[in-house]
Amino acid sequence: MRTQVAIVGAGPSGLLLAHLLHLQGIESVVLERQSREYVEHRVRAGVLEQGTVDTLRAAGLADRLLREGLVHHGIELRFTRHAHRIALSELSGGRSITIYGQQELVKDLVRARLETGRALYFQVADLSLDQVAGPEPVLRFRHGDRAVELHCDFVAGCDGFHGVCRKSIPASEQQVFHYDYPYAWVGVLAAVAPSTDEVIYAHHEDGLAMHSLRSPELSRLYLQCSPHDVIAHWSDDRIWSELHRRLATDDGWVLQEGPILEKSITAMRSFVVEPMQYGRLFLAGDSAHIVPPTGAKGLNLAVSDVRALADALSEWFVHGRDELLAQYSATCLQRVWRAQHFSAWMTQMLHRAPDDSTGFMHRLQVSHLRYIAQSRAAATSLAENYVGYDLA
Ligand code: APR
Ligand code: PHB
Repeated sequence: MRTQVAIVGAGPSGLLLAHLLHLQGIESVVLERQSREYVEHRVRAGVLEQGTVDTLRAAGLADRLLREGLVHHGIELRFTRHAHRIALSELSGGRSITIYGQQELVKDLVRARLETGRALYFQVADLSLDQVAGPEPVLRFRHGDRAVELHCDFVAGCDGFHGVCRKSIPASEQQVFHYDYPYAWVGVLAAVAPSTDEVIYAHHEDGLAMHSLRSPELSRLYLQCSPHDVIAHWSDDRIWSELHRRLATDDGWVLQEGPILEKSITAMRSFVVEPMQYGRLFLAGDSAHIVPPTGAKGLNLAVSDVRALADALSEWFVHGRDELLAQYSATCLQRVWRAQHFSAWMTQMLHRAPDDSTGFMHRLQVSHLRYIAQSRAAATSLAENYVGYDLA
């Protein structure tokens, strides 16, 4: 088999790249380890920056997102039992965010790919990369009982943090930067109307709590827990009682409960590999970088990588020029490091530090939160990063 771009992974990165290339008349093959059912039902993040929505709309992929997504103009910070609204749009020149579950976006992207009639293989096994440093990389994999060899001009490594592409780059050719946080999140999807109109980030002495939304009938909630915790320790009753306690305010706000449909624990880490390229292999999305979810940046970074990669590959295939490919990694890393800083900053401001034996960090955090609630300059900084900030 031969194609122009072999895309490993059918998450948001791989599927969006496939579509953007298709729009330029560039052929690709998408290879995914899991089943369609699995990727379409994996519950993940849900906040889209306006730039992300604009990219999807321009690619003709936003019909359902524009119908069903919830457009938000603010978020709420809660601390010392009080609520403070950060007016994102007012503070960022009118930009907004849209709440739309990542798995819904993946469903839209899979459907769009299948409609193009171009190749998308699920349940691909034992994938390996060869000769990515040369002009014609080769991918080998099994699909059903066939052993396949796929030749291509470029490989897009869109296979997430645990994928094979990054691991195919020699260690001497990459530099890894990472930080593991001493906490994790219990994430919950509940069949109940959200008790809030905007996403709530709550700071509490027992740890962060968050209330997000998915639809008029579905709530998404999170609680800080230990990175060593297991979900079996989190009964539904315990989850609701912790949420009530950590989200409580003095003005009598009420959290509505409902059946818990899904719950799991997510580790929190910051991770970047540099450069995001090796020969003809280009990494995009979670395969190249991970942010802790507190800044809601993961999906948005994936989309901006892919937009840059699609532009660079189009320039190569359509105009025979390689300037954008040569700049790809440096271009993406500007945005990646801004998002890394913002995500780490939000994370450290809102989580209980396990080694804070005297409560020093807790007091710093409360002072920081008060400053953001009171100072327009501080709130503007949060807002412009939250809606997506491009470093020149
Ligand atoms: N062969 C084929 N596919 C693979 C392999 C492999 N060896 N390893 C991983 N994959 C697939 C995974 O099954 C997954 O479907 O690659 C896909 C990667 O998708 P994501 O993890 O969703 O990564 P990405 O598309 O970059 O999207 C980033 O996902 O984790 C969230 O917060 C993150 O929203 C961000 C988004
Ligand atoms: C979500 O809706 O899942 C969500 C929202 C904001 C975050 C993280 C997750 O920071």
